[in-house]
Amino acid sequence: MSRYPFPIPFGWFQVCEPDEVATGATKALFYFDRHLVAWRDEEAHLHVMDAFCPHLGAHLGHGGTVEGCEIQCPFHGWRFDDEGTNVDIPYSTRTNKRAKIRTYPTLEVNGKALVWFHPDPEVGPQWDIPALPELEGGEFHGPIRTRHTVMAHAQELGENAVDSAHFRYVHNTAEVPEITDYVTEGPVADMRSIQRFPTPRGVVDGKIESLGYGPGVSIVRFSGIVDTLLVSSTTPIDAESSETRFDFYTRSLGDAETTSNVAQAFVAEVDRQFLEDMPVWEHKAHLTRPALADTDGPFMAFRKWYQQFYAEGTAEGDERTLFPPPYWPEKMDETPAKATASARHGGS
Ligand code: FES
Ligand SMILES: [Fe+2]
Repeated sequence: MSRYPFPIPFGWFQVCEPDEVATGATKALFYFDRHLVAWRDEEAHLHVMDAFCPHLGAHLGHGGTVEGCEIQCPFHGWRFDDEGTNVDIPYSTRTNKRAKIRTYPTLEVNGKALVWFHPDPEVGPQWDIPALPELEGGEFHGPIRTRHTVMAHAQELGENAVDSAHFRYVHNTAEVPEITDYVTEGPVADMRSIQRFPTPRGVVDGKIESLGYGPGVSIVRFSGIVDTLLVSSTTPIDAESSETRFDFYTRSLGDAETTSNVAQAFVAEVDRQFLEDMPVWEHKAHLTRPALADTDGPFMAFRKWYQQFYAEGTAEGDERTLFPPPYWPEKMDETPAKATASARHGGS
């Protein structure tokens, strides 16, 4: 029985930060329920491919070496080019045409190294991730990065954004964000909210603009007290667990120290909230027919938008409407408050 009624979605997903794979280096990765290898050729282009050498199965991310614009297997020295084609067998005058490795389109933008994942290797990128003008002007300080692993499907994490009512109960905030607009157009979901912040000078209206580019990347702009840009990614590790990476940039407030203090406080608050959400996500059931209040956020619009990223369809014919988590003895005592007190997955 599957944990969720949906498979791994397709889209652009962050698999590392650009500087985690230096020129000439390889790195083993695991996302989309697959072992992968990332490598950067001598012209500084990043490549991501399936990890296993088609000769006898060595993992190219563990001991593989970059030779010019090719990757060499550590086991018997076979070489592959950036399309995964075998271009050299050092102890033969021939190559093996059947020895082909699946490669994934990559994109390095906004401080993230992204991969296009689709279950069908023939389906290439269906949309773009725009470069953010804020990151070019030098007015923004950052990034401050956080990273977490969550035992829940990426869709469950995404749904948190349209759930205004939980802020009061999970995050103990005095005010909850009010969603004023939720519009989807193809792969892009555009959500606007207003969040009131109590300050010594009275209540300040903060604005939150969130643009989701498919299931993997969203750009969130906070304004009001301080302008903050959040470039966030959610990457499926498999169909039951996800990795999130948040990169925060703050508009300079004049002096570096004030900007840094304000930015750190903002990031700490978002991270506190994330750690509070985690045990809810990990222990919740997925309900295909939730019993909603008339004043709940646009859950069904969110789910309808997300549905388009499932190439393999969802669990048709599965009669269940409730998909519970597995029995996790080691997690039986977890509550949101306890998880906050002992953050299990540290940020960076
Ligand atoms: S397993 Fe890769 S060259 Fe033999
Ligand atoms: Fe939350």
